[in-house]
Amino acid sequence: MHRTEIPLALLVLTFLGTSEGTCTSRLHITAFEGEPFYLKYCSFSSERENKTTAIKWYKNESHGLVELNSSSSPRIILHDYVLEFWPIELNDSGSYSFRMGNDTHDWKLNVVGRGKHSCFTEKLVISKVVEVKKSLHVACEHSYYQKPVNRTLYKDCQKIENSKNPFSKNAEFEDQGYYTCMFFLRHNGKLFNVTKTFNITIVGDRNNIIPVLHGPKLTHVKVELGKDIQLNCSALMNEKDKIYWNNWKENENDPNIHEEEGQRIRTSEGKLLASKALIIKNINEKNLNRSYSCSVVGKEGIDTKSFILLKKDVIDIPGHVFTRGMIVAVLISVVIVCLVTVGVIYRVDLVLFYRHFTRRDETLTAAVEEIHSLIEKSRRLIIVLSKSYMSNRVRYELESGLHAALVERRIKIILIEFTPVSDFAFLPQSLKLLKSHRVLKWKADKSESYNSRFWKNLLYLMPAKTVKPCRDESEVLPVFSQS
Ligand SMILES: *[C@@H]1O[C@H](CO)[C@@H](O)[C@H](O)[C@H]1NC(C)=O
Ligand SMILES: *[C@@H]1O[C@H](CO)[C@@H](O)[C@H](O)[C@H]1NC(C)=O
Ligand SMILES: *[C@@H]1O[C@H](CO)[C@@H](O)[C@H](O)[C@H]1NC(C)=O
Ligand SMILES: *[C@@H]1O[C@H](CO)[C@@H](O)[C@H](O)[C@H]1NC(C)=O
Ligand SMILES: *[C@@H]1O[C@H](CO)[C@@H](O)[C@H](O)[C@H]1NC(C)=O
Repeated sequence: MHRTEIPLALLVLTFLGTSEGTCTSRLHITAFEGEPFYLKYCSFSSERENKTTAIKWYKNESHGLVELNSSSSPRIILHDYVLEFWPIELNDSGSYSFRMGNDTHDWKLNVVGRGKHSCFTEKLVISKVVEVKKSLHVACEHSYYQKPVNRTLYKDCQKIENSKNPFSKNAEFEDQGYYTCMFFLRHNGKLFNVTKTFNITIVGDRNNIIPVLHGPKLTHVKVELGKDIQLNCSALMNEKDKIYWNNWKENENDPNIHEEEGQRIRTSEGKLLASKALIIKNINEKNLNRSYSCSVVGKEGIDTKSFILLKKDVIDIPGHVFTRGMIVAVLISVVIVCLVTVGVIYRVDLVLFYRHFTRRDETLTAAVEEIHSLIEKSRRLIIVLSKSYMSNRVRYELESGLHAALVERRIKIILIEFTPVSDFAFLPQSLKLLKSHRVLKWKADKSESYNSRFWKNLLYLMPAKTVKPCRDESEVLPVFSQS
């Protein structure tokens, strides 16, 4: 088998691969407008038999055959078996003939314009399929124009910077696209470019895998009647494998059940992650305790998994309510602990603040009986007459004291005149009858010394009492305030 193949391959090389480049054997030829182009006759004899045998080129115009020569267009060049265009234009489309003695060859040329792609035409592409992870190889070689000024590689008309020739890498799916080699040629001082475009398709690993569904083979799903549920089915599978929900006929009769469109994601290995969901709306009793199954089917095998819907006990507090309740309870506890702590630490400040705020005076709440019993225990009543302090309570004390002194004759009165008695119109007349030695007049502006006449007089009017010398002075001395 190998013996016959090798000479055949050599033969093809001999015919097509001459040193001057590939000859044009095809009948229908497509050319890209604006590029240099050539037609070359394929000579089957290794050498021209008679050098003097004339070669003629014709173009079939509407009015008949027209012979081509270098003077027919500055863009046309004829040499030996080749007809060159620098460059080819749209109106060059048509039939061309080569004549050499009895040999003749015809071509049908179609020149296509520049469309949406600036650098190639879809009608002139060489298709190549490359398996992912295998070598992607693009060689920018031209058999005819062998000495370009330079060459550039484009992918989808975007220049690939610093691309090596040949361009080579491990294929990935993103590499799919149109690769255009652009050869720059100089001719008669002008710069031309010729393109060669490959349509490269990247395909997945051609070795199939056994498709598998994700998750356990049987899943019990707890549901509430009247709610919706989405049953998910996903698989790793080959491109041509299928994923679907079974019992479809049966499900179709239930308007509450429908199958989702499905999603497919290609993995870097060229396999598919496919998923398809079954949606059951407004779950009813009929949907419970029966199996819904999903399958993936491929050349390499089949895999199936099932779901069974069970009724959920709904006495549970719904999750979100429970969570909120817990949060509120914890917050309240934290606040209470904080308040108690603050209360303990700032107890004194809080009480003082409260007193200040309410202007509370506990000294004022003394009961009438208490005043009375205090007066009962007293032997002297000292009355200090001052303008600024004359409340009802003071007046009551004064009156009950006066009663005890004057009527019951149990108490002796000492009157300290801070302001003259005449200023106090409300004072009982009896007070004015008081013996003059029982009235002390305060004359100084500030506190007088202990030895002064005023304090001696006061001491004299008070009942006799032994003075303990070690005692703190402040406890013995009367405190006197002007306000
Ligand atoms: C290649 O040649 C065509 C036709 O002359 C021109 O439109 C295009 O701009 C050239 N491309 C480059 C990259 O020079
Ligand atoms: C070559 O061609 C010329 C003219 O066409 C002819 O006179 C001559 O005999 C030919 N020679 C051979 C070897 O065929
Ligand atoms: C290029 O290849 C892709 C994938 O095989 C194909 O769909 C597309 O038609 C091809 N384009 C041309 C212009 O041949
Ligand atoms: C190719 O050569 C032409 C002419 O010398 C120049 O204009 C162009 O920029 C060159 N391209 C690259 C990629 O070097
Ligand atoms: C199916 O997938 C969706 C979206 O990821 C999810 O909300 C739902 O709970 C899944 N269904 C089951 C039964 O796990």
